Amino acid sequence: MPLDAGQLVIELQEMRDAGHLSDAILRRAIRSIEEADDRYSWVGVYLLNEAEQELWLHNYVGSGTDHAKIPVGTGVCGRAIEQRTNLNIADVTTEENYLVCSPDVQSELVVLIRAGSDIFGQIDIDSDEPAAFTEEDEIAVIGIADKLAEQLAAERR
Ligand code: SME
Repeated sequence: MPLDAGQLVIELQEMRDAGHLSDAILRRAIRSIEEADDRYSWVGVYLLNEAEQELWLHNYVGSGTDHAKIPVGTGVCGRAIEQRTNLNIADVTTEENYLVCSPDVQSELVVLIRAGSDIFGQIDIDSDEPAAFTEEDEIAVIGIADKLAEQLAAERR
């Protein structure tokens, strides 16, 4: 079943209304995205540490990774932050600036968690299939990332 972002966004808002904080909400979002689609082999969230200019892995579902911290500008994840853009990489083997998580991964989608000009981090999804991510996937993940950004912004105030 493809990712039903609308339903998940409602659930995340219900968690916010009930007083849950970003830690629980980020975990629920990542688990639900991973469960929604068999094409997603690894799903995680990195939060931007502005002072260190690094992405710090908050939580993930999938096999273990060496990339707990990624400098801004490094890898697909760090490049998305540097360029302030989402990245849909159809074939990771053609990427020069790529950090291997698992040798089985073929394609990767990075969606920024942002509110206006503030970037809080990103949702990172790997697939073992080539060119796994459609525009529909990207739009769905953007909807979820925007809801996470609302909570992260509220906690920073
Ligand atoms: N492939 C990413 C690193 C993150 S792992 O896949 C978990 C990159 O190139 O930045």
